[in-house]
Amino acid sequence: MKIVVINGPNLNMLGQREATHYGSLTLEEINGRLSELAAEMGLELSFFQSNHEGELVDALQAAGGEAGGVVLNAGAYTHTSVAVRDAVLCCGVPVVEVHLSNPAAREPFRHVSLLAGACAGSIAGFGWRSYALALNWFAAGGAGETADRE
Ligand code: DQA
Repeated sequence: MKIVVINGPNLNMLGQREATHYGSLTLEEINGRLSELAAEMGLELSFFQSNHEGELVDALQAAGGEAGGVVLNAGAYTHTSVAVRDAVLCCGVPVVEVHLSNPAAREPFRHVSLLAGACAGSIAGFGWRSYALALNWFAAGGAGETADRE
């Protein structure tokens, strides 16, 4: 199964930005760890990062035609973007929302996710392992289960 890992604005700055929230790994290092795990899980990963809202919309639409699912950290667009939410809804594959930090434990403006209700589920607060947990769900076949998640 192919999974696209999509990262939004400022996540290209990991390793330099607010380590207390985001840890010290760069995005490249995180992607390397995810690639190793994915190989063990039998998943094929591709990676995309953009600081631009429309490019995230394009990447979600493209993922619908080429992958079985998406792991999405939309960064600050999580809290603001109806366009990214609509792309999640129409891309045609399950999307798991992930965050390195736990937005619910931070400033009030981060408590609202416009994406959460459009995603299969959300994983936050576990650093790079939030992405790994999302991959685990896909590898376990979670995306193919019925809605009651038995
Ligand atoms: C983030 C949380 C967002 O609130 C923030 O704007 C980010 C990163 C996270 O991974 O914890 O850029 O998505």
